[in-house]
Amino acid sequence: MNVHLYERLWMWAAVAIIALFIGTIGVATFGQALRPPSHVETIDPSQVFTDPRFAQPGVTRAEGGRWQVNAVLTAFAFLPADIEVTAGDPVTFTLTSIDVTHGFQIVATNGNTMVVPGYVSRFTTTFERPGEYLIVCNEYCGTGHHTMQGKLVVRERQP
Ligand code: CUA
Repeated sequence: MNVHLYERLWMWAAVAIIALFIGTIGVATFGQALRPPSHVETIDPSQVFTDPRFAQPGVTRAEGGRWQVNAVLTAFAFLPADIEVTAGDPVTFTLTSIDVTHGFQIVATNGNTMVVPGYVSRFTTTFERPGEYLIVCNEYCGTGHHTMQGKLVVRERQP
């Protein structure tokens, strides 16, 4: 079978690109601990504040030193906007939106998820480095999108 040189080059280029994409997923999954959302929970967006999961948005300490963050996203705010946890302890974020699709990205960490009205986004991560982290909305949600931000403070764990 005679395959033209250019045809062959393009075929190998396509194979290389596919291998690169699969490799990227591998690096993100195993190297950077990026995970797709593990739960698919639904919620009535008009009843969020009477739902037991979000009746009291805020940060609580759960069993085993784990932090539980329950936050509601709305145009154009995070409730609560200030989150404080300790370094080295797992933090579970439980998030939902009462209006449109928002993003929840903790800059310079692997904390990043889309928050869609009608669904509960949940992920757990651990922050090893104490400091202040910016939380931004990374899904365009309206005219105030760029002002939608919060703050995560990771404190040194007390011995
Ligand atoms: Cu919320 Cu962009």
